[in-house]
Amino acid sequence: MAYQIQRYPAELIDVVRLTAGERVVIRPVLPQDRELLNAFFHSLSADARCSRFMHPVNGLSSELLRQFTQVDYANHVALVAEVFVDGCEVVIGEARYVRAADASSAEFAVSVADSWQGNGLAKLLLGRLERFASEAGVRQITAQTFASNKKMLAVAAKAGFKISASLDALGVMRLEKRLAPLQQRPK
Ligand SMILES: CC(C)(COP(=O)(O)OP(=O)(O)OC[C@H]1O[C@@H](n2cnc3c(N)ncnc32)[C@H](O)[C@@H]1OP(=O)(O)O)[C@@H](O)C(=O)NCCC(=O)NCCS
Repeated sequence: MAYQIQRYPAELIDVVRLTAGERVVIRPVLPQDRELLNAFFHSLSADARCSRFMHPVNGLSSELLRQFTQVDYANHVALVAEVFVDGCEVVIGEARYVRAADASSAEFAVSVADSWQGNGLAKLLLGRLERFASEAGVRQITAQTFASNKKMLAVAAKAGFKISASLDALGVMRLEKRLAPLQQRPK
């Protein structure tokens, strides 16, 4: 049977203008976004893909694409940022979080197409994820990134994350931020 989303969080749909003025649509990921997301990850440089997944990745397996697009919006929340080129959707960024077993903390990851970096897109995507997570009862949001990933460390520092060396792996930093409880918006 085809996968069905329990509740698509339409309140996360937004149109924003980046610092350079471009119009970008931000929306929650849909099951039919497989091809768009696949094209996005293929378009990233090998370095950016490695930074995103914390290991070298050439292509996304069918199973990973399934996981990335069949998002339940309870334990897993995912956003894409897209522009329209000649009337066709092109994904230029994605961000997601997955709750840990205790549900009060969640791990996030974000990536932005190389040519769109430095325009505030990661900041926008993370801000929206954080707000949604707070409203959903997540109290701590974390991520791991390479100590050499200066861009992500800068994004995290500016967003108020605590940054410390990971106890699990050498050359890896842990990003951590407490989230204040926020009241849920009316649905
Ligand atoms: C890390 C990454 C997501 C940042 O995306 P981005 O859209 O370029 O980041 P933003 O433009 O939103 O930057 C947010 C803040 O960080 C700062 N920043 C970003 N890159 C920076 C850099 N190289 N040096 C200094 N500051 C930087 C920005 O100035 C901005 O601060 P401001 O709000 O005061 O202007 C992007 O480089 C990327 O996709 N990298 C590959 C994948 C990856 O590493 N993902 C991390 C997995 S957790």
